[in-house]
Amino acid sequence: MKLAAVGVTNLKMMQTPLQNQSNARIDWDLKNNSHARIQAYWDEKNYPPLAKDVFETSQEIYLEVGAGSGTFFSQMAQFYPDKFHVAIERDRMRGKALVKKNKSLGLKNFLGVRGNAIPMLLTGIPSNRLERLYILYPCPWEKSSQRHNRWHLSAAMSHLVRILKPGGQLIWASDQKFYIDEAAYVCEKSYGLKVLAFGEITPNAYNDLDKFEGGRTKFERTFLKSGQPCYELIVSKPH
Ligand SMILES: C[S@@+](CC[C@H](N)C(=O)[O-])C[C@H]1O[C@@H](n2cnc3c(N)ncnc32)[C@H](O)[C@@H]1O
Repeated sequence: MKLAAVGVTNLKMMQTPLQNQSNARIDWDLKNNSHARIQAYWDEKNYPPLAKDVFETSQEIYLEVGAGSGTFFSQMAQFYPDKFHVAIERDRMRGKALVKKNKSLGLKNFLGVRGNAIPMLLTGIPSNRLERLYILYPCPWEKSSQRHNRWHLSAAMSHLVRILKPGGQLIWASDQKFYIDEAAYVCEKSYGLKVLAFGEITPNAYNDLDKFEGGRTKFERTFLKSGQPCYELIVSKPH
């Protein structure tokens, strides 16, 4: 497996992962979106996302959205006892399993929440707060008509950047190369994020893969076991 771990000097090379036509379509999407309408909807709903004090801890925070049943983050919490880990999952069964795991493990630095991460991201998390934010194996929404659901094209994307602290990392992985290519294009072009790792996954200084034999999450383990290549993008917010 090959990994392109890139520094600032290689950023230029990274800027054209897609065909021109795709880039043009993404540029159009970034200009013509319904993000303001979605933001207004959730602002008005006054949705109670997470207890406010969750983010008042003095600990650094790692957040995982779409965490499944929380296997990865419950283990991360044990590897990094000084960091506070928040895992969010909206699926009923996986969310229930996450909350159950949270209760049974009784870890002080792990919180599993069942719910929709979108309103939490749009209205509930303070700016410049997270040290790491994970999006691992999101649904790729391959149909063009559904592409606004991809995290990097969604109304949540600007908030993913807003809530990261300077130097904080946004860590993506997918079995779909196109998804990671698109996310890299949007992260660099629209948000000026710095690429730390991009390409097929292999253990590196940022992804903790060396601690998880066979893969970090359920989906990652399944893909790797079946020989399906997995891809990652790790970007950081400039200081
Ligand atoms: C393909 S699964 C991957 C689960 C896990 N990350 C893994 O790698 O095993 C994607 C997960 O994201 C969750 N998800 C999608 N959108 C979400 C949202 N808005 N809020 C919370 N979870 C979400 C889905 O319910 C699903 O469980």
